[in-house]
Amino acid sequence: MLGINLALEALRGHEVIGVDRGKLKSAPFQVFHADFLHTNEILSIIDSTRPDWIINCAALANLEECEKHPDQAKMLNTNLPAELATACAKRNIKFIHLSTDAVFNGEKEGAYTEDDEPNPQGVYSQTKLEGERVVQEVNPQAIIARVNFFGWSLGSRRSLGEFFVNNLSEGKNVNGFTDVIFCPMWVNHLSRTLLEMLEKNLHGLYHVVGARAMSKYQFGVEVARKFGLRESLIEPQSVERSTLTARRSHNLWLSIHKLSTDLGHVVPDFSTGLDG
Ligand SMILES: NC(=O)c1ccc[n+]([C@@H]2O[C@H](COP(=O)([O-])OP(=O)(O)OC[C@H]3O[C@@H](n4cnc5c(N)ncnc54)[C@H](OP(=O)(O)O)[C@@H]3O)[C@@H](O)[C@H]2O)c1
Repeated sequence: MLGINLALEALRGHEVIGVDRGKLKSAPFQVFHADFLHTNEILSIIDSTRPDWIINCAALANLEECEKHPDQAKMLNTNLPAELATACAKRNIKFIHLSTDAVFNGEKEGAYTEDDEPNPQGVYSQTKLEGERVVQEVNPQAIIARVNFFGWSLGSRRSLGEFFVNNLSEGKNVNGFTDVIFCPMWVNHLSRTLLEMLEKNLHGLYHVVGARAMSKYQFGVEVARKFGLRESLIEPQSVERSTLTARRSHNLWLSIHKLSTDLGHVVPDFSTGLDG
C-alpha cells in the first residue's frame, strides 16, 4: 500500500525505480521484479541503478500471517532491512526503514515518545522491532519511521479505511474497536513527509503518524461521514471480543513532537487527509 502511493508521490520531483514481485504491470516508472524470500538479486539491482535513496516498504505486515509464519516474518521484517541497511551504509545511500506503532504494549497513559521502551506483543511487532535495532546498528544514518497510515491500495483491500468504505458501501455491519487508540496519517501525507525527511537529511528514530489520536471506531465513523455512508452499521466493540488471534495493543498514541520540531512545521491534520 505504501510502496505504490509513495512511488507516485515521489515521481512529482524525483526519478523512481520500483522493486516488486510481479503485481505492477504498467507503472509509470521502471520496475524490477524480485522475490526477496527466494532471490538475492537486490544487491545487483542496487549496483546497477545506484539510487541516492532507498525506502524499504516491503514487509510481512499482516499480523495474523506473521503468527502463522514466524520464519517468513523474520526474513522480511528483520533480515531484509538488515541487508538493505548494510548495503546502503557501504554505498553511501540514504536509507529509510518503515517500522510500526505496534512496537509498544499500549499500557502507557498518554502518548509514547521515541524515548519510551518498546515491548512488542506478537511476532509482527517483535520482528519489526528487531528490524529497527539492526538497522540502527549497521546504519546510524538511516531513518527509522514508526508509522500508521490509511488510504487507497492497489487491490482496494489493504487498509482499515478501505475495510470501512467497502463494507459500509455494501450495507454490511462491521465492528469498530473502541479500545484501540491510534494516530492514522493519510498515506500521501506520509509519503510527502518521508521525502521531506530525506531532503532535510534527518536520521534516527521518528514517530511519523497523524497528529490526532482516535479509536478505530471513531476512525470508521469519520470515514463513513466523509463518504456519506451509514455510520450506524458500525458496531462499537472491544478488541478483546474479536476473533483476531494476534494480540493488539490498546494505546498506540504516538507523540510527533520530535518530527514536527525537526521538520520545522506542524504535521498535516487528519481531516485534510480524509479530504484527499
Ligand atoms: N499499513 C499500516 O498502517 C502500517 C502500520 C504500521 C507499519 N506499517 C509498515 O509500513 C510498511 C508498508 O506497509 P504496507 O501497509 O504498505 O504493507 P503491504 O501493503 O502489505 O506491502 C508490503 C509489500 O511488501 C511486498 N512483499 C512482501 N513479501 C515480499 C517478498 N517476498 N518479495 C518482495 N516483496 C514482498 C508485498 O508485495 P505483494 O504486493 O506482492 O504482496 C507488498 O508490496 C511495512 O513495513 C509495514 O510494516 C504499516
